[in-house]
Amino acid sequence: MFPLIRNRRLRKSASSRLLVAENSLLPSDFIWPLFVVEGKSIQQEIPSMQGIYRLSLDLIVKEVKEVYHLGIRAVLVFVKVEDHLKDNFGKEALNPNGLMQRAIQAIKEACPEMVVFTDVALDPYSIYGHDGVVENKTIANDITCEVLAQMAVSHAKSGADVVAPSDMMDGRILSIRKALEEEKFIDTAIMSYSAKYASAFYGPFRDALDSAPGFGDKKTYQMDPCNAKESLLEIELDLKQGADIVMVKPGMPYLDIIKMASDNFNAPIAAYQVSGEFAMLNLAISKGYLNREDAVWESLIGFKRAGAKLIASYFAKEFCEKFA
Ligand code: PBG
Repeated sequence: MFPLIRNRRLRKSASSRLLVAENSLLPSDFIWPLFVVEGKSIQQEIPSMQGIYRLSLDLIVKEVKEVYHLGIRAVLVFVKVEDHLKDNFGKEALNPNGLMQRAIQAIKEACPEMVVFTDVALDPYSIYGHDGVVENKTIANDITCEVLAQMAVSHAKSGADVVAPSDMMDGRILSIRKALEEEKFIDTAIMSYSAKYASAFYGPFRDALDSAPGFGDKKTYQMDPCNAKESLLEIELDLKQGADIVMVKPGMPYLDIIKMASDNFNAPIAAYQVSGEFAMLNLAISKGYLNREDAVWESLIGFKRAGAKLIASYFAKEFCEKFA
């Protein structure tokens, strides 16, 4: 009771605030997303994501070494697939010599200590821009799971450490886990996008990969933003089916879900600060409405406070450059 208790005593100096800080950010908390394109010496800025680039393989390798030196220990690889390689079944996704497979090999060769996460989903490969095989204008769940399982095995063969299915089909974690076990990839981890919401905040990412859905939306498979408890069901099922890390996505509008996940489960929780969140902050910062260092830091520490251990963020590199 006042004046016995004055909470300001411990806020008096930067040093004392640091001593009692409940959370902090380390470079090893981050997952750095990479967008890979075919070609040589290619560096294309994504218009809606200022400062973020699609890179060809030669530059990806340089990039990975650079972020490793900053202390980042995880990259999440996405590929931009050329139009002529797209179909309804993601055939190119299984090509042992495809862009993803070559990217994984090149990264592991250049930087073996980097933990390579790979996106397992059909949308960059799909003529329809959907995360599954399309049948009569619907997304066919079970056939898609089979393709995803083969995709995960193909990534594991190329050297991926963690496969990250981002599709939200039912049962895909079990299909992937079984396929990996059958092929003896017993140490390949799965980071499941368990609570992935049908969100407006993925817009810039779909520009980056040219993967916007050609018809309809993703509401028949991604979660309804109205729901919270359902995320616990999704996470529980994924953990039972063999997921090692579970992700909540997007991040900032879903901090309640991250908190619920971390209160209810003991597996590591990842949060994805998605492209739209990045774009919003970046725009406000570029207008001078927000202070860059303070706003970026605050947006990231919120994920730790909510209970995420890992944070996929397009701010990861600059954060580690400036603050680490
Ligand atoms: C698709 C996928 C998406 C993102 C990651 N994987 C978009 C979507 O579901 O349409 C979004 C990431 C971001 O916005 O930064 N499998």
